[in-house]
This record gives sequence, C-alpha cells and structure tokens, in this order.
Amino acid sequence: MPTASEPRLIQQFEGAPWEIEGYLKAGGYEAWKRCVQDMKAAQIVEELKKSGLRGRGGAGFPTGVKWDKVLNHRVKERYFVCNAGEHEPGTFKDRHLLKTLPHQLIEGCLIASYTVQAKASFIYVNHEYQEERENLHKALAQAKARGILGKNVFGSGVDIDLQVFEGHGSYVAGEETAMLESMQGRPAMPRQKPPFYPTDFGLYGKPTLVNNVETLCNIPRILYKGASWFTQVGTEKCPGTMMFSLSGAVNRPGVYEMPMGVTIRELIERCSGGVPGGRKIKAVFPGGPAFSMVTADQLDLPMDFDSLKKAGTGLGSAGVIVVDDATCMVAKTLHFSNFFKGESCGQCPPCRMGTLNLAQLMAKIEEGQGTQKDLDSLLQLCGFVKGTGYCTLVTGAAVLVQSSVKLFRQEYEDHIRLQQCPYRPASVAV
Ligand code: NAI
Repeated sequence: MPTASEPRLIQQFEGAPWEIEGYLKAGGYEAWKRCVQDMKAAQIVEELKKSGLRGRGGAGFPTGVKWDKVLNHRVKERYFVCNAGEHEPGTFKDRHLLKTLPHQLIEGCLIASYTVQAKASFIYVNHEYQEERENLHKALAQAKARGILGKNVFGSGVDIDLQVFEGHGSYVAGEETAMLESMQGRPAMPRQKPPFYPTDFGLYGKPTLVNNVETLCNIPRILYKGASWFTQVGTEKCPGTMMFSLSGAVNRPGVYEMPMGVTIRELIERCSGGVPGGRKIKAVFPGGPAFSMVTADQLDLPMDFDSLKKAGTGLGSAGVIVVDDATCMVAKTLHFSNFFKGESCGQCPPCRMGTLNLAQLMAKIEEGQGTQKDLDSLLQLCGFVKGTGYCTLVTGAAVLVQSSVKLFRQEYEDHIRLQQCPYRPASVAV
C-alpha cells in the first residue's frame, strides 16, 4: 500500500464514516472552505490541470480539461452529476469509497459544483447500493447542520445543495448519457452521438460536468495538499493512486489503493496474497471483461492507462479479475458473454443482435455442440459488431471473445474436436 507520506485516498477517520467530526479533525472540508473563500474557479481548474488527475471511471480523460470545458461554456445553465452508477463486473471500488469516505466524496462534489457554477447538483447512486445511499444522506445532513452546504456556506454568500438520486439498476445505466436520460425520467439508454459529450449536451441538454466517485474523492486531497503532493506517486502521465478491485482466483479479494503503474504481479502477490491452493495464473482481466485479457507471462505490465493501452488492453475502472489454471476459458468467456447479452439495452440492432448471437455461439461451443464453422462465425461476428452501437457495450462483448479465442484457441478447438468440455470449470463465477 502507499506509505503515509504518499498521496492516498483512503484514510482512517475517527468514528462512523458518515460522522463528520473525524473528517473535520483530519483537515476535511478545509479545501472546500478555501475554494469558497479565497479561490477563483479558474485557479481551481489550474491546480487540477497541474495535478494531471485523470478520470477514474474507465477512460482516463484529464479532469482539469473537462472542468475547464464546462466552466468556460457559453451556456450559463449548467449541471453537475457524480456518477456512482457502478456495474462493471469485478469493479466495486466506488461502493467502497461511498461506504468509507462519504464526506470526502461530498467535499469533492461541492468543489466541482461550485467551480462550474452548477444550477443543480446530484450524486447518482446505484439502486442496489442502499446502505451507501443511506450513509450518504446521513453525512449530507451532518454537513448541512455545520453550514458546510446549504445557504451561505462558511458565511461566504455561496448557496449550494447536493441531491442524492437513486439510480437505475443496470450496467448500461452507468454509461453517462444513459444515466442522464434516466435522470430526466426516460429509459436508461445511451444517447446517439453526436453530440458526444455531456460537457456540451448533458442534463436537459445543458453543459454538465459528470465525474466518477473516485475522481471526485481525489479533488479535496489535491486542493488541500497541492498538485505536487499528488504527483509524488504514479507515472508521469498517470499520477496518483488508483483503487484496484481485485477478485476471482485470489486469496484476499478486495479494494486496494496502489500507485498508478504498479504491476499486475504486485497487486496479486502483495495485495491479495496470491492464488488459492498454490494454483497457477492462467489469465488476468486487467480492466474488467470489456478489455483484452493478459496471460501469465505479462504479469509485469504496469497498471496505468497508457501502458495497458500500449499492450493492447486497457485499465478501465481497474476491476482486476484473476483466472487460475483450473478454469475453462470457454466457460469463463461464456459467463461474461451472457452478462453482456443480459445487459444490452436492446436499443441498437448491432448490440441487441450481436450480444445475443455471440452468447449463443459461445454456449454452443461450450456445450460441445460447436463446429469449426461456428468458431469462424464467432470471430467474424466480433469483427462486424466491434465499434458499432451508441455506446461501447457491444464492442466490449466482441473484444472479450476475440481476446479469449486469440489467447486460448486450443481450448475452443478441443471443445469442438471432443464434443465436450475437457477442462474442469472450477471457478467460473467471479
Ligand atoms: P469516453 O472516452 O467516451 O469518455 C470518458 C469521459 O471523458 C466521459 O465523461 C466523456 O464525456 C469525457 N470526454 C471524453 N472526451 C471528451 C472531450 N473531448 N471533451 C469533453 N469530455 C470528453 O469513455 P466512456 O465511454 O464514457 O467510458 C468508457 C469506459 O467506462 C470504459 O473504459 C469502461 O471500462 C468504463 N466503464 C466503467 C464502468 C464502471 O462501473 N465504472 C461501467 C461501464 C464501463
């Protein structure tokens, strides 16, 4: 884990997470106070740009650039939404942050809302995260009672409020435009692009700043301790730490905060105590099932947006899923193909049909009824659907299958040749 002198997001505060005293004692809400009392919005954005913070929701877009776009938008009616619509298989770090650091998240949200001069601000939380939502409400009430949000905060003349929005319970609802649609009372389906980004066309068609939970939890620390503190760890282009969700074939699944650029091996061995039963690693999904897998000979790859992209995969929201050598890769891939099929919103034909057909072909092969022609069709279908659709769901479904066949083709061939699964599916579920 990062040492005490290193930038870290997870700190132990006194008392229950929603209780404000422990957070205040540790310097909590000081950055927010400084922002409303002494800082101009442009200065806040400048500090963020200096920190090099990149979005932790999955794509690593520079946070300062995003804030700048909304702040300097010619349309003055703006909104702010914290996206806590976390549904990626193997990703549970935002849940952990909501549970343990509600005040740090609230502080990040207040700073974001104030900086872009939002007319209204929301924290969109998964339907399933009931306890986390309740804790957030308790934390908000405590902050309000202290004059930290509400009318005339810190006597500055600034009025600000944050509302918790109970989100839709689906994977695609975490896609930012689907989230915004559902907040407007419509089905949670991604918008057709262009317009591409909520910074131009967001909630009610107005410029909207959308940030992920982890991204926002970084903001108070950066402004309290300075951009140069934040850049002490991580890589030059991906500074700071990342909250890694580790699951699958590991001894201690959980959320671990480590500097960006940590290797996959370090995460598995140092943080989660290796693979159970002394088994070997067969594959790792470094960024959840929508990015290519890596194999056991690639465990020294650094975990940051750029290094993984260069290696032909991605960090995503750092949901690291470890697969051991007792696992059938065809069954494992089918498990995630079924997930994508079930979560497609069905709006656009390539996704609706593509995810269904991919899952059907995968099931046929896994059940020992597939032919060589099915395997060819599977790969051909991946090529057809990749890059289509209003969002990246079907692309993720195709990348998963392509990566699995490329790395473990022999297992597919064996299923076809033997007309059954020759591998023991010991750990199919994540
Ligand atoms: P994206 O690259 O389109 O955008 C990333 C963010 O930057 C968005 O907020 C977008 O609006 C903004 N952005 C990008 N270019 C911009 C520009 N020129 N101007 C203004 N804003 C800009 O990626 P997307 O599709 O939003 O996210 C995909 C990622 O999300 C994947 O990596 C996937 O792993 C991850 N994901 C995470 C989930 C989770 O539970 N955290 C769930 C599903 C997917």
